Formats: sequence, C-alpha cells, structure tokens
Amino acid sequence: MGNPSFDLKGRVAVVTGGTGVLGSAMTRGLAQAGATVCVLGRRVEVGQKLAAEIASQGGQASAWRADVMDRAQLLQAREEILAKYGRIDILLNGAGGNLPGASIPPDKNFFDLNIGEFQKVVDLNLTGTVLPSQIFAEPMSKQGSGVIINISSMNAIRPLTRVAGYSAAKSAINNFTQWLAVEMVKKFGEHIRVNAIAPGFFLTEQNRTLLTNPDGSLTERGRLILQGTPFGRFGKPEELVGTLVWLCSDAANFVTGVVVPVDGGFSASAGI
Ligand SMILES: NC(=O)c1ccc[n+]([C@@H]2O[C@H](COP(=O)([O-])OP(=O)(O)OC[C@H]3O[C@@H](n4cnc5c(N)ncnc54)[C@H](O)[C@@H]3O)[C@@H](O)[C@H]2O)c1
Repeated sequence: MGNPSFDLKGRVAVVTGGTGVLGSAMTRGLAQAGATVCVLGRRVEVGQKLAAEIASQGGQASAWRADVMDRAQLLQAREEILAKYGRIDILLNGAGGNLPGASIPPDKNFFDLNIGEFQKVVDLNLTGTVLPSQIFAEPMSKQGSGVIINISSMNAIRPLTRVAGYSAAKSAINNFTQWLAVEMVKKFGEHIRVNAIAPGFFLTEQNRTLLTNPDGSLTERGRLILQGTPFGRFGKPEELVGTLVWLCSDAANFVTGVVVPVDGGFSASAGI
C-alpha cells in the first residue's frame, strides 16, 4: 500500500470567515490542494472577489453570505451548497477573533470588564464554531465522512492579559474539539474527524490595534509577543496551509481530537 494522499481533489470545503486574513489564506490553500471551496462571510462581495481570484488561477470556489451567528443564513447556504455540489466534506471554522470592546484597557482592570462585550466575544468564537459545526457536519454524518477544523489560539493554553473573553472562548474551542471528535467517532464512525489549529501570532484586523500603533510600529504588547516567539517574527498566513491540508487529507486518517500549534515556537518557549 502506498502512502496516504494529501490531495483534496473532489472534496467540497466550507470556510466560515473565509474573507478574513487567515481565512482567505487558508481558503486559497485548500483550493490549491484541489478542494472546491465555498467561502462564507458576512459581506458576500468580498467572498466573490476571492472566489474569482481562485477561479482565475484554475481553482474552484464560490461565495455565500452567512453570519456564523445566524442559523437561517447558515441553513440557506448549506441548502444552496448541497444543491450545487451535492456534498460537504470539509468545514473550516475560520470566523472569530477578539473584539476591541472586550479588551480591558491597560489602565483598567477586571472590574471594568464590560460583560456585554465579554458575552459577544465568547459567543462569536464559541457559538460561532458550534452552530456552523451543527449545520455543516450534518450532511457529513449522512455521507459517513468529513473533516471539521476549528481555530484555537495560544490564549487557549495560557491566557494573555487583557483578553479574558477571547481566552476563555478559545480554551473552550480546545475542549469542544476533543468533545466533538469523540462524539462523531462514537455516533458516526471513524471517517468523521475533528481537529483544531492553534495559530501563534499573525498580524490581522482583529489584533492590529493590540499589536501595532497607528504608525505601524509595535506596541509594547506586540514587542513582548515577538520576544516570546523563538522565531522572532509574526507568522505569515500561508504558513498555516500545510498543517490545514494535512489535517483535512487522508494523510491524517488516524488523527482526531488534536490541537496543532503553528506558532514559531511560542507555546514551547519559557522565554529564557
Ligand atoms: N491573527 C492571529 O494572530 C490569530 C491567532 C490565533 C487565532 N486566530 C484566529 O484566527 C481566526 C481568523 O482570524 P484573523 O486573525 O484572520 O482575523 P480577521 O479579522 O482577519 O478575520 C476574522 C474573520 O471573521 C469574520 N467574522 C467576524 N464575525 C463574524 C460573524 N459573526 N459571522 C461571520 N464571519 C464573521 C470577519 O469578517 C473576518 O472575515 C479567528 O478565529 C482568530 O481568533 C488568529
């Protein structure tokens, strides 16, 4: 028997938050590995632009409007995707991130935390992963095969200061990844796998104001993060693709319930 394949040809992948910085890089990566990619986002025009770019390079992609908190929109996208492609093989839960109002400013403390913003960030990252999983993994359960990839964070392992809600939600993503992995195997067999990627630090829209000043220079927090990253630099979004394609492919057929750091060594380092 030959080695299992990393090829995703013929697989239909749904990416939530597919228009984000990391989401779009991972969407391009899935398309390059052969998957037909359905880009979901709140602004369908942005998804359509990405889909057109992928198509112009010989890949297959299309775009749908869907807020990950909106059950009706997700269900509609699912029905249209199934009508168009007949199956769903991969779900990448890429939507999420911190919300500025949920960060405790440097001169404030826990007692100033806005509980409404805390709930919003927990909802976006946790419910915004659980709900699309419910909706897009259902066809997988009928097919008897599929892969779900969640997006965790370094905050899930050791929380960073200021972002209590984001950290709690990403920690819950690790737990949910393990929980759903076991649930899927026990109820639907070993061909539905659930794993997560924990990116280290990548400069994107949801953390730009925490990590950089308006003039582009690093904030003190940004400087400390690079100091804690043995590579001494932020990740490049395309550096997530190899791990993603591996986890989605038959090469990872015996891998479920894991959270893989892609972090330039951040989680391994004691900083000394
Ligand atoms: N950038 C990093 O360093 C880093 C590190 C660890 C984890 N992550 C995670 O990676 C994922 C992608 O984030 P990113 O850094 O590319 O940020 P980003 O802001 O570029 O992308 C986030 C995407 O989620 C979308 N989104 C937000 N709310 C949504 C909703 N209700 N419905 C649908 N889409 C919604 C945004 O429109 C955007 O497209 C997030 O889960 C984030 O927490 C990022």
